[in-house]
Amino acid sequence: MSQSFVTHLEAAINGTRLPAGQVHGTHEGRPIWVRYDLDAIRNAVTPDEIAKREPTLWRYRELLPLPFDAEPVSLGEGMSPLLHCPRLGQSLGMSQLYVKDESQLPTGSFKSRGMTAALSLAKHLGITRVALPTAGNAGGGAAAYSARAGIECFVFMPEDTPIVNQMEAYQFGAKVFLVNGLINDCGRLVREGAARMGWFDLSTLKEPYRLEGKKTMGLELAEQLGWHLPDVILYPTGGGTGLVGMHKAFAELRQLGWLKTDKVPRLISCQAEGCAPIARAFDKGERFAELFPNAATVASGLRVPVAVGDFMILDAIRESGGTARTGKEANIAPWMVRSASAEGISICPETAVCFDVLESMLASGEIRPDESVVVFNTGAAQKYLEALPLNLPKVNKDQPIDAILDAIG
Ligand SMILES: Cc1ncc(COP(=O)(O)O)c(C=O)c1O
Repeated sequence: MSQSFVTHLEAAINGTRLPAGQVHGTHEGRPIWVRYDLDAIRNAVTPDEIAKREPTLWRYRELLPLPFDAEPVSLGEGMSPLLHCPRLGQSLGMSQLYVKDESQLPTGSFKSRGMTAALSLAKHLGITRVALPTAGNAGGGAAAYSARAGIECFVFMPEDTPIVNQMEAYQFGAKVFLVNGLINDCGRLVREGAARMGWFDLSTLKEPYRLEGKKTMGLELAEQLGWHLPDVILYPTGGGTGLVGMHKAFAELRQLGWLKTDKVPRLISCQAEGCAPIARAFDKGERFAELFPNAATVASGLRVPVAVGDFMILDAIRESGGTARTGKEANIAPWMVRSASAEGISICPETAVCFDVLESMLASGEIRPDESVVVFNTGAAQKYLEALPLNLPKVNKDQPIDAILDAIG
């Protein structure tokens, strides 16, 4: 394999060393880390040099697994803005509230980050057919980047997946199937069909590279804060790639010596009360999470009743001094409106859950009003037509304007 700074891959469950430059899925059914020669990276590039590069996540090329002579499969993803939210912060009684707005990425969600990395590596390693289960956004992202790569893509999604996710995956040319079950049922179909169909399984954390793409959320955040880190990060957790990826990013940056702070942000894993396997395992002090029965929430990205990387999520939360919490289902739609209308940022239901958790942790004193807090907005609200029931007033164009305005009040 041609040049990159990857030294090897490593089974997350038991540390087994695996060779780089080969197609890998899981090891003993569990995820695989990518490991880098961080000393060599420190000698090869500085943060100042990175700052002069194109504003896409590929600016962190040395910390990504694609060999330097390979062209990324890219749609120009990243860097997403880090937006100070004074009005929303004030309404919550705090001053340092920031949203990292991933809704502006290609396909309208943070899934682009994982998919640009995964499809770049898939293409480089000669894979021609991928399949994945999805709660929604990953299907659209995989379909778009597969189209960009010239790779065939098969998507299995629950039949109640938001219509926009169904539409985008189809529009990007994937073969899309609606399953009368949840994402884990879709995952089983992909696993069982893989051999016969020649599919490479692109499921969350069942190949090593989506995690590396998601890691760039942490790299970007640090760079945008001048290589400092916030006190607290709230992150909506389904399969957990983003949270685990960010934790890995901070550890790599620390080893590189690029951080100007010893601060470890408390990672707050936010789940919906209707599907909260990680929050439940965290409360019980367990390292592995049981399947959450009858998973149901309008925040479709959080409808993940069992995660193959559960122990990686729980390890990351605990190592950071964070916690795992649930937001109330009834508060999702109101929070989508409240946060979006306060700041003009298009907030997905998964992130609305984070705001509900933030409010309750401020009330309990677990987050102090003077702390710096970053909430990840992982997707665009307009992908969730079903999440926000509308009952807008109708206007009769034939009425005189005064009668119309009297009625509006
Ligand atoms: C908008 C949104 N937020 C959060 C998540 C959960 O992501 P992760 O796998 O990083 O936990 C998803 C996953 O589908 C999603 O679509």
